[in-house]
Amino acid sequence: MKNRTGTKLSIVGAGAVGTSLAYAALIRGAASEVALQDINAKKVHAEALDLAHGSQFLPPAKIDGSDDVAVTADSDIVVIAAGAKQKPGETRMDLADKTVSLMKSIVPPLVEQSPEAVFLLVTNPVDVVTQAVVKISGLPDGQVFGSGTVLDSSRLRYLVAQECDIAMSNVHAYMCGEHGDSELPLWSTSTIGGIPLADWEKQTGQLSTARRQEIAERVVGAAYEVIDGKGATNYAIGLAGTRIIQSILRNEHAILPVSSMLHDWHGISGVCMSVPQIIGRAGVVKALELPVSDEELRGLRASAEHIRSVAAELGF
Ligand code: LAC
Repeated sequence: MKNRTGTKLSIVGAGAVGTSLAYAALIRGAASEVALQDINAKKVHAEALDLAHGSQFLPPAKIDGSDDVAVTADSDIVVIAAGAKQKPGETRMDLADKTVSLMKSIVPPLVEQSPEAVFLLVTNPVDVVTQAVVKISGLPDGQVFGSGTVLDSSRLRYLVAQECDIAMSNVHAYMCGEHGDSELPLWSTSTIGGIPLADWEKQTGQLSTARRQEIAERVVGAAYEVIDGKGATNYAIGLAGTRIIQSILRNEHAILPVSSMLHDWHGISGVCMSVPQIIGRAGVVKALELPVSDEELRGLRASAEHIRSVAAELGF
């Protein structure tokens, strides 16, 4: 039973991703309470203190940090960003074994502290990790999901907007499938200002098949490019995570390509993968079976099998 008013966001893992997400959520006023939890007591205390020192410039929020899991008690949302960092050249899937083992130890105590919370996984490989945490937590499927390709879809929209000199808000396009090397753009349902891309190409000569292929490759390679230059990605995933958090806490019912356990989505079941889903106060409301081309369905099925095979190797 909640013994407080307001909304509590807990973030597990006070590394670059977790602290960037906390920073973005505080700036957006996403929750009235933000708790950071990490095994490194000195660091998590310092991160919380550094954020709290900026409170004058933020919407009101209580900020805590501790190595004690009790700091996450009674959360509305628990974001898990704890895990190993992708090194230059390393794929997200290379982190699977180590990260899933970590989830086995940290998830049960977190669920005990906040059994009613929505659990949002950000840690990579996020689809496999989400699949494992759905089972480890024992919570209903929709209450546990991953940030998936929300970030990748932002990268896609950014590149399309740049290509066409159009505001990003007028670009509607999803990357779906694995948050990783097997993801793919759903061009067949993408639009600019309501104009299907095929018509846009006819009208403007922009976004030829070759250019779309190049854009898709840049999206898939985006994280590698950033990691190669600065050692990690953090700002964009922090912003993407905050967008998801807002849809949950405000019960927005935003449609976001998050990674959740699919049930007969174009015939795909029993695997966590990103497709457009309605996100509300209790987590995933519904996965939307948007129309896809035969080629896109082949790509999505291949992506699902890649995730399923890695998860199965780890017992999930
Ligand atoms: C990225 C990380 C979050 O794509 O996987 O930046």
